[in-house]
Amino acid sequence: MRIILFGPPGSGKGTQGDLLEKKYGFPKISTGNLLRRAVRDGTPLGRRAAALMNRGQLVSDEIVDSLVAERIAQPDCRRGYLLDGYPRTMGQVESLEAMDGGRPELLVEIDIDLETLTARMESRLTCRECGAVYNLELRRPREEGRCDVCGGALYRRPDDTPEVIARRLRVYREETERVREHYRAKGVYRRVDGAGPVAAVFSRLTEILDRELGKTEAGQALP
Ligand code: AP5
Repeated sequence: MRIILFGPPGSGKGTQGDLLEKKYGFPKISTGNLLRRAVRDGTPLGRRAAALMNRGQLVSDEIVDSLVAERIAQPDCRRGYLLDGYPRTMGQVESLEAMDGGRPELLVEIDIDLETLTARMESRLTCRECGAVYNLELRRPREEGRCDVCGGALYRRPDDTPEVIARRLRVYREETERVREHYRAKGVYRRVDGAGPVAAVFSRLTEILDRELGKTEAGQALP
């Protein structure tokens, strides 16, 4: 099974993806985290991606496709995996289908209003080492400035400024309509309300996933 978490910046894809990974055992693959790691390590790919990310623009399909292809070829993805932030363009949809077509899949869009997601991003802290996500208002780390998971330093993402957030939201609206319609036409699109506490959103998501995973296990695979 392939689960695709879809939704605007700050909608909670990463937060929910971590919880879903723990519950279902599907590895979470976040293109944002893979790119941020490459930027942190100063790799040639990271240097190419950094300026675009800091401006709130999409990195080229070629770069993200190659990161995903490499990751889903790992043995832990054989049973299934969870994609966070990919695919975002029709080019990426086509690449994914060429890489690993025929696998049952489900795209779940986390729907949330603009005001809430802007507030969430403006108070987000991210771990430089493992990518874990915190929030100064709602999910503070136990020790200030340190990640609860790995002890890494927490930082404010350079693309979490009001101007860059506005551009990321614009890019999301422009790029994603065709992707959403593609999965809707395949009958594998679901939508979940992203408002309210993390636990409430998680429970809405697991309700959908338990139902759909139950169907695939019973042999009534999604189209
Ligand atoms: P990426 O890292 O994927 O960013 P994004 O899609 O903009 O999403 P975010 O990471 O901002 O938010 P999220 O939905 O994961 O929310 P989170 O859980 O953190 O991409 C960054 C950049 O990389 C892109 O702009 C692009 O340049 C490039 N890129 C990545 N993928 C690409 C691709 N496929 N193609 C091309 N370029 C690509 O939550 C946000 C905050 O809210 C946190 O503080 C969290 O603690 C808090 N929170 C979450 N849920 C709740 C809740 N229910 N209640 C209260 N607070 C909550």
